Amino acid sequence: MGERRLDEAEVGGSIPPAPTQKIIKGPFTKIPSIFYNKIGINVTKYLFYLVEVILYDELCNAKSLLDVGTGPGYLPYIINQAFPQIKIVGIDPSDEMIRESERIVGRNPNIKILKASAMQIPYENESFDLIISTFSIKHWEDVGKGLSEVYRVLKNNGKFWCVDLDKNADSSKLDRMFQITSPVYKFFAKYIIKSTIRSVGASSDELNSLLQKIPFHGKFVSAKFLPIIYAKLSK
Ligand SMILES: C[S@@+](CC[C@H](N)C(=O)[O-])C[C@H]1O[C@@H](n2cnc3c(N)ncnc32)[C@H](O)[C@@H]1O
Repeated sequence: MGERRLDEAEVGGSIPPAPTQKIIKGPFTKIPSIFYNKIGINVTKYLFYLVEVILYDELCNAKSLLDVGTGPGYLPYIINQAFPQIKIVGIDPSDEMIRESERIVGRNPNIKILKASAMQIPYENESFDLIISTFSIKHWEDVGKGLSEVYRVLKNNGKFWCVDLDKNADSSKLDRMFQITSPVYKFFAKYIIKSTIRSVGASSDELNSLLQKIPFHGKFVSAKFLPIIYAKLSK
């Protein structure tokens, strides 16, 4: 029999997060890093090559870009190849991910990788033209605080593009996503993502309710065909 969690009203106070939430929040430790860098990335990297198409105007006009929760750093690496004029900073609080992103990015004067968290972005107000974050926001310890930090370091008229897995996606959307991945990774990724997405994914409704306290323009939406939520927010 499944356990029922008590409502806040029943216990008369705030409810501690469910165990799965604790495990997936915060910097990636060794095992999740290995899983993501060896298997998960093969599902997500297809989107990275489309960033040029999705953010064409923003990337043509940006001089500075911040990638929050950069993980292995593929996105900075790919964006730099298409838009070498942009000064890119990738931040991540995980030692494992910093090591991997330094390996992927190599020596590049236009890409800086820093160990830092969305909870406290080590930049002054209004530092970046464009901020992006892919498949990371669901891991932030306090998503409202992270969104406020992104808002603070984004320049006026700048854009924040954010994408993550949708915990409310139906099975047909998940199946469609796995159709575009390599068969070698399909089995592992499909098994693990399908069994964890309900507890680890993000929800557009929950993110939009956090946005009510932050003066961004725009909102998160659930994609119609793929199991992702996304937003292109303006300041
Ligand atoms: C699934 S990986 C995605 C990495 C990368 N953005 C990509 O799309 O390939 C999630 C990343 O979020 C990072 N993360 C966790 N908590 C974070 C936080 N508070 N601030 C910034 N990044 C965080 C993890 O360390 C991990 O590298």
